[in-house]
Amino acid sequence: MQILDGKKTSLQIQDEIRDEVIEIKASGSRPPHLVAILVGDNGASETYVRAKVKACKRVGFESTLIRLESNVSQCELIAIIEKINNDENHDGLIVQLPLPTHIDEKIVTSTINPNIDVDGFHESNLGKLMLNIPSFLPATPYGILELLKRYKVETSGKHCVVLGRSNIVGTPISLMMSRNKFPGNCTVTLTHSKTKDLVQITRQADILIVALGKSEFINSDMIKSGVCIVDVGITRVKSNKTKNGWKLLGDVNYDNVKEKCSYITPVPGGVGPMTIAMLLKNTLSSFRKDFLV
Ligand code: GUN
Repeated sequence: MQILDGKKTSLQIQDEIRDEVIEIKASGSRPPHLVAILVGDNGASETYVRAKVKACKRVGFESTLIRLESNVSQCELIAIIEKINNDENHDGLIVQLPLPTHIDEKIVTSTINPNIDVDGFHESNLGKLMLNIPSFLPATPYGILELLKRYKVETSGKHCVVLGRSNIVGTPISLMMSRNKFPGNCTVTLTHSKTKDLVQITRQADILIVALGKSEFINSDMIKSGVCIVDVGITRVKSNKTKNGWKLLGDVNYDNVKEKCSYITPVPGGVGPMTIAMLLKNTLSSFRKDFLV
């Protein structure tokens, strides 16, 4: 069994980006600039956004974190987004999800200028993904592809089973794994809450991508020997064994399945850090205007 080390790979990618930023600055240009908007005080979101800002510093990007009270109105939030949309000095804008329930995430996401939508959540960028037109790819599925690519995991002709059909992970990764390229060329089965005989399907997977948000859902009875497992789940549970009082659990019971796998991503240290690396990569692409329409 080989661990797909997302932490190490993310740091490698960040080093590559840092080298490019050094060149950008040496040419007299300003560095790429990412703006993150965080609404309310969701503990998990707070942790993710802090990690994104820290990664920006590491690679030499400028970053701005805009914190808004949980009772901010949708109109106020949209007005702030529109101001950033029209500022030439910002290359990336993300609004951390989830948002408080009085705010419509779809409306907010579609307000972001698609040319700086480095999360790749805008309908224009998701539509381009569907049509195989170069665009900002959502950072988590993009990170999964990059991890499989750098570890040279064979994907062609394999059966890839995806658990969960979210717009952010399950649906886009299903498309990406079916593409005629590497990684890709898989036969993909996308499963969800109404899927019948799930275990019969997961047992057929050569590559199993689990994005359910149900901690330790997958165990060794549900997989075949030699499977490559990508665990996207990150559930925070209270723990008296860690310094900050929380521990992170994946959607896969790691200790239970690891002997049966060819490859596996750990939690933490797997897909999470890759998401951050690909967000930075998208911000660099935006700075370079790679996908401008
Ligand atoms: N919430 C969970 N994952 C993400 C992500 O990749 N981007 C944003 N903006 N919010 C998230």
